[in-house]
Amino acid sequence: MRSLFRTLNAYPAAKLSRPLVAIAAALFFVNEAHAGDVKASTAKETPQSMVEALHTAFGKHHARAVHTKGTMLEGTFTPAPEARSIVKTPVFGGGTVPVVARFSLFAGLPDLPDNADAASPAGFAAKIKAADGDEFDIETNQHNNFIVATFDEFAVFLRALAASGPTAPHPTAVEKFLEKNPKAAQFLASRTYPISYAQATYFGVNSLKFTNAEGKSVFIRYRVVPRAGEHYLTPEERKAESATYLQDDLLKRVAKEPIIFDWFAQVAEAGDAIEDPSIAWPESRKLVKLGTFTLTKPPADPEAAQKSLLFLPGQPHVGVEAADPMLVLRNAAYPISFSERQ
Ligand code: HEM
Repeated sequence: MRSLFRTLNAYPAAKLSRPLVAIAAALFFVNEAHAGDVKASTAKETPQSMVEALHTAFGKHHARAVHTKGTMLEGTFTPAPEARSIVKTPVFGGGTVPVVARFSLFAGLPDLPDNADAASPAGFAAKIKAADGDEFDIETNQHNNFIVATFDEFAVFLRALAASGPTAPHPTAVEKFLEKNPKAAQFLASRTYPISYAQATYFGVNSLKFTNAEGKSVFIRYRVVPRAGEHYLTPEERKAESATYLQDDLLKRVAKEPIIFDWFAQVAEAGDAIEDPSIAWPESRKLVKLGTFTLTKPPADPEAAQKSLLFLPGQPHVGVEAADPMLVLRNAAYPISFSERQ
């Protein structure tokens, strides 16, 4: 199954047929749902119904169902020696390899202004092209937890959002949802807006199980930290920014110098929530450096590159497996959205 996904990833976008990707996604879902310790099959929603729920909230535009507007950069990944203390995946034991990255606004709206409320949490995704042909993908966003605990609850939120247009009577469906889910309301209220995609910290939110060469396992969550330092805007400053300020800034910066991020694994301790991404782990947890992303230029044909790019953040690797059911289900939803933009 992994090789099928590698093939889909490598295959030129124009040649992919929708049924092929849909079948692959369905097969992958069945396989993964029964493969590991994670019980993805307890969710009522399916990857397909979740993509439909995203369309209900954001419209069907044959681009990414969410995180639709984004900017890509290319560069390299260099592993940190300490990564091997917790994970045996060959990519962490080798040298510098190519990487492609995509920064994105949150909502599933192709023309969303960069300074809109729905732009946050912004996303950072990276695909590391390992020397052995493995593609190691991560997807992170700007918040250190997720708005809800489960795949099913996210669909409820999206449908409430869809039913809460400007003409909906108060309390709207989303107002009622937030009343019942104060943690989700707190999530929305605490979102931040960076001055630059290169000056935000990004969080993986869903847990993974890492195993090292001695067979010792730990649960971890990803964190990607900007070398340029964090800098977030006040509401007034954000209002004054342009509708393309994030993409303009990124391209201007990278033309001058590389954009660098350090990538860490936050290691869980006993009692930390492994299967609930709405609960952030304490800041006191150990961070083990996994490596460094050095981004140097945009792709030669950004439009074609964005269209043919598929991230699979829940993909298993030697020494790495998803430990949160949401990540397994996300992994199966992404190819469905991918097929819709071909
Ligand atoms: C139930 C939860 C989630 C669902 C159903 C979901 C679904 C999706 C879908 C369908 C896409 C479009 C994929 C494509 O067309 O290639 C997407 C993109 C993305 N998601 Fe999620 N997602 C979820 C949670 C998360 C979380 C927790 C994060 C990060 C912590 C995240 C980060 C991203 C990013 C960064 C992208 C853009 C990828 C790119 O640049 O191509 N998502 N998501």
